[in-house]
Amino acid sequence: MSTVAVIGAGVIGLSWARLFAEHGLTVRVVDPRPDLEVPAGVEVSATVEEAVRDADFVQENGPEDLEFKKALFAELVEQAPAHALLLSSSSAIPSTAFTGGIDGSRVLVGHPFNPPHVLPLVEVVPGEQTTEESVRGAVEFYRSVGRTPVVERKEVPGFVGNRLQAALSREAAYLVEQGVVTPQDLDTVVTSSLGPRWATVGPFLGAHLGGGPGGYRHLAEHIGRSMAGLRLGTPSTDPERLIKAVEDAYGSSAYPALAESRDRRQLAVLTAVEETR
Ligand SMILES: NC(=O)c1ccc[n+]([C@@H]2O[C@H](COP(=O)([O-])OP(=O)(O)OC[C@H]3O[C@@H](n4cnc5c(N)ncnc54)[C@H](O)[C@@H]3O)[C@@H](O)[C@H]2O)c1
Repeated sequence: MSTVAVIGAGVIGLSWARLFAEHGLTVRVVDPRPDLEVPAGVEVSATVEEAVRDADFVQENGPEDLEFKKALFAELVEQAPAHALLLSSSSAIPSTAFTGGIDGSRVLVGHPFNPPHVLPLVEVVPGEQTTEESVRGAVEFYRSVGRTPVVERKEVPGFVGNRLQAALSREAAYLVEQGVVTPQDLDTVVTSSLGPRWATVGPFLGAHLGGGPGGYRHLAEHIGRSMAGLRLGTPSTDPERLIKAVEDAYGSSAYPALAESRDRRQLAVLTAVEETR
C-alpha cells in the first residue's frame, strides 16, 4: 500500500488527508499549527523530512506563496525518495515558477477544488521540466483515490477551473452593480439553470445540444449571433475552427441519445437537490 505525505494541513490538506486515509493509504501529515487535529487513521510527523522519508507521493498544501513553495520543493527534492511524485495543490502558481534551479522532473501541480474529499476534479499541470512519466503517475494516483484528473498542457495563471469561475464571478458582480438583479436572484438564476446543466454537460456539450440536431454549428451560426449580442468565444476566435473542434468531440454521437442522457441526468440532479433541501 502506498504512503502519502501531506504537507500543510489547513482547509485543503486536511481534506486530502481524509480522502487518502479513506482509500486505505498510509498518510503522514506535517504542519506547524499548534491546533493541529487530523482525521481518523492519519499519522502526524514532526518535520517535513520525517513525513516524506518513505513517501511514494507528496501532496503540498502550504501557503499560496512563491517563496514558500520554492524553499519547500528544494527540500522535497532532496528528502523524498527518488521515485516519489511531488505534487502541489497550488491554485495559481505554476510549478515552473518554483522549480527553477532544482530538478523539477517529478514536480507538478495537482490542483483540487475545495473540498477535495468531495469534489472529484484535479487539474494536473506539468511544468517545463516535468516528465511524461510523472504526468502519467499523477493521473493514475488521483484515479486510484476516486478523483477525476484532467491534464492541462499550458501553465496559464489560475489554470482552467478558477479562470472559468472568475469569468462568471466578474459578470455576476457587474450585473449586481448595474442593478440588474439582486445577489439572491442571481444565485437563483444559476442554481435553477446553469448549475444543474453544468453538473451533467459542460459548456461545449451543453451548447452543442442547445443547437438541436444541427448541433454547435447551428447554435453558433444562428442563435449565438442573436443572443443579446453575445458571441461564442472572443473577438479573435476563429468560429470555423471552434465549431470543428466541438464537432470532432461530439459530432459522431446521435443527437437524440445525447439529449435524452442530458435530460435524465439533469432530472436526477434536480431530484437529489430537492430531496436534500
Ligand atoms: N482553499 C481553497 O479553496 C483552495 C482550493 C484549491 C487549492 N488551494 C491551494 O492549496 C494550498 C493550501 O490552501 P489552504 O486554503 O488549505 O490554506 P490554509 O491557510 O488553510 O492552510 C495552509 C497550511 O499550511 C501550513 N503551513 C505553513 N507553513 C508550513 C510549513 N513550513 N510546513 C507545513 N505546513 C505549513 C499552515 O499552518 C496552514 O495550516 C494553497 O496553495 C492554495 O492555493 C486552496
